[in-house]
Amino acid sequence: MLSPMNKRLLHALQGTNNGRPPVWLMRQAGRYQKEYRAIKESYSFLEMVHTPEIAAEVTMLPIKQFGMDAAILFSDILTVAEAFGVGLRFEGGVGPVIDRPIMSRADIPQQLGDLSYVGDAIKLLLPELDVPLIGFAGAPFTVASYMIEGGSSRDLKNTKKWMLKDPEGFHMLLETLTEATISYLRLQADAGVQALQLFDSWAMHLSFPHFEEFSLRYMKKIADGLNRDLPMILFCRGSSVFAPEMASIGCGIGLDWNCSLPQMRQKIPHLTLQGNLDPFVLYAPHETIRKEVTNLLDAMNGDPAYIFNLGHGISPDMSVDAVRCLVDTVKEWSPNNDCRAKEQRRSETGDCLLSERTT
Ligand code: CP3
Repeated sequence: MLSPMNKRLLHALQGTNNGRPPVWLMRQAGRYQKEYRAIKESYSFLEMVHTPEIAAEVTMLPIKQFGMDAAILFSDILTVAEAFGVGLRFEGGVGPVIDRPIMSRADIPQQLGDLSYVGDAIKLLLPELDVPLIGFAGAPFTVASYMIEGGSSRDLKNTKKWMLKDPEGFHMLLETLTEATISYLRLQADAGVQALQLFDSWAMHLSFPHFEEFSLRYMKKIADGLNRDLPMILFCRGSSVFAPEMASIGCGIGLDWNCSLPQMRQKIPHLTLQGNLDPFVLYAPHETIRKEVTNLLDAMNGDPAYIFNLGHGISPDMSVDAVRCLVDTVKEWSPNNDCRAKEQRRSETGDCLLSERTT
């Protein structure tokens, strides 16, 4: 028998969480786990993603191992690009490769192929989970960049050349991807995911006005196109710069580690904030991990609309014990403990509350 659904994540998304924040980690299922590497001996990454039983099993790995407060569907943001028939492969050591990159408006694909395997994985997962399941997609700008560059790129040169030479054609591509993303996220919502995250991983390459025109506008269209039926988190790398603009969409915001979350909370008082531990902290000794995690928890001070996460994903060479240490530290923290510890520190040092708040 499953225990009752752990709703911390959903409460934090509604701004009503009590006690410690929920914790989940980007790339929480992946190569740093030996169970994942064992499955990958027999299947390619795309085979794993395409096979609902395997995708479901891999989604569950970190939940079983560490007890995060949310699962994120094991898949990839490039499934949509693949369904447009551009020819997607993942090469070890290289990452995603697109065999038929698109060069101009004449190449914009029209026909979105079948993505029902994603719904099938979700349906298999739901009865197994006692935490909410997060569905996700790439935001149009980031998915477009992979389709144009043919893979990962350092500076998105071809994408930006097209954007600057033929903005109208580039908007046509973003529009096509926006429609596809709405129907893809709708499919996930209909299959039963309880929350959504939209990844605009490469939007940080855009200038401020271009971010508004080519990224933000389409993220908003997606949120509106889904009628805001499910809570959604928007994640951009470099998001601390763009966060106040992202707030205009009215969704939760995932933040990288280049900002102070309490300061961001002052600028954005009304939305869920997620983040923002530097993932490299996972390379540190456990004592440092505990200190960094506790500092962030203390700084957010039981904020009812806060979700603990990294500022970006777990890397393959990070240790399982480090991840466990992080998750356990969040789960053992409580605002009361914190208050008690502060009380004790105050009586020991004679510190006043104000100096504590500024540290
Ligand atoms: O977070 C999770 O655990 C859910 C699964 C998930 C994956 N990719 C699995 C994956 C999610 C949410 C993603 C999102 C994703 N994919 C993003 C946005 C987040 C980000 O990283 O900024 C992007 C840009 C991609 C595209 C992508 N997929 C790249 C660039 C790579 C190669 C880089 C790498 O880590 O090897 C992937 C492959 C990928 N996606 C892996 C996993 C577990 C590794 C595949 C393997 O086993 O070789």
